[in-house]
Amino acid sequence: MEKKVTVVGAGNVGATVAQRLCEKALCDVVLVDIIEGVPQGKALDLTEAAPVEKHDAHLIGTNSYADTKDSDIVIITAGIPRKPGMSRDDLLATNKKIMTSVTEQVAKYSPKATLIIVSNPLDAMCHVAHDVSGFPKNRVIGMAGVLDSARFRSFISMELNVSVENIHAFVLGGHGDTMVPLPRYSTVAGIPITELISKERLDAIVTRTRNGGAEIVSLLKTGSAFYAPASSAVEMAESIMKDRKKILACAAYLEGEYGIKGLFIGVPVKLGKGGVEEIIQIKLTAEEDAALKKSAAAVQDLVDAMKKMA
Ligand code: APR
Repeated sequence: MEKKVTVVGAGNVGATVAQRLCEKALCDVVLVDIIEGVPQGKALDLTEAAPVEKHDAHLIGTNSYADTKDSDIVIITAGIPRKPGMSRDDLLATNKKIMTSVTEQVAKYSPKATLIIVSNPLDAMCHVAHDVSGFPKNRVIGMAGVLDSARFRSFISMELNVSVENIHAFVLGGHGDTMVPLPRYSTVAGIPITELISKERLDAIVTRTRNGGAEIVSLLKTGSAFYAPASSAVEMAESIMKDRKKILACAAYLEGEYGIKGLFIGVPVKLGKGGVEEIIQIKLTAEEDAALKKSAAAVQDLVDAMKKMA
């Protein structure tokens, strides 16, 4: 196929990303992992599904970054996931090391790629990928807002018993407990949800959205969510590959937008062939702005903590 996408990490999220990419016939896929046999086995299994799924995407499973050469997009899901009782921030030290080694290899073989980061803690991992790769800010993007917004949209759909397709919603800020769902910018067939759902119910939905990842972890017990995270990363990759210019909430490097400087955090961006082609600045109320700043401070704490690590 015309495009080549590497997925680093052949675990739950990575393998599901590979499956969605090829079954949507978007690109050829290279699946990389440090564990020998796993990426090869999953890529072969997906290849053997192709005649039934009716696509011609080529899949390679590998432990060698040489196979990833000249990828258009690299989706990084390598790392350890959460277990019950852990926050995303508890993954910081381990995943920082993994992200550093992965990014070095990825940047060496695909210097022109756009990186989509999925590993947690998300915003902090974007900093690592940006620093280590040396790539321009438009080519390092974090997957969080699409997922958080999808969870918010799902809960609104359950509440109102309407099609998910009618629901638009935005969740900004860091991918953690301080994320900022924006009911004011969330609509059902163009109608603001604040006119359709009582404040009390809306508050409950916002809280459930903030805890959406933890809710899944507490049910799965052995790992974290992967179907919705994979779908979200693939939506971003598709918008870039097809130059669709979708407006999606993503972690992007801010240099003064929203009054935040030198930090990756979730904001609405336009995704096209240039990666982040524009950061969309929407007007926030004083309360929303304070929530975003609080979220930014939490991300800054993690970035500062990483600086003190070896
Ligand atoms: N290089 C390549 N792959 C690696 C490396 C590395 N240095 N270190 C770990 N991996 C691989 C593991 O071998 C494993 O196959 O990353 C994969 C992670 O898969 P899972 O354990 O199934 O975790 P998953 O649920 O996919 O989550 C991955 O995404 O959503 C985030 O918080 C989540 O940080 C976690 C990441």
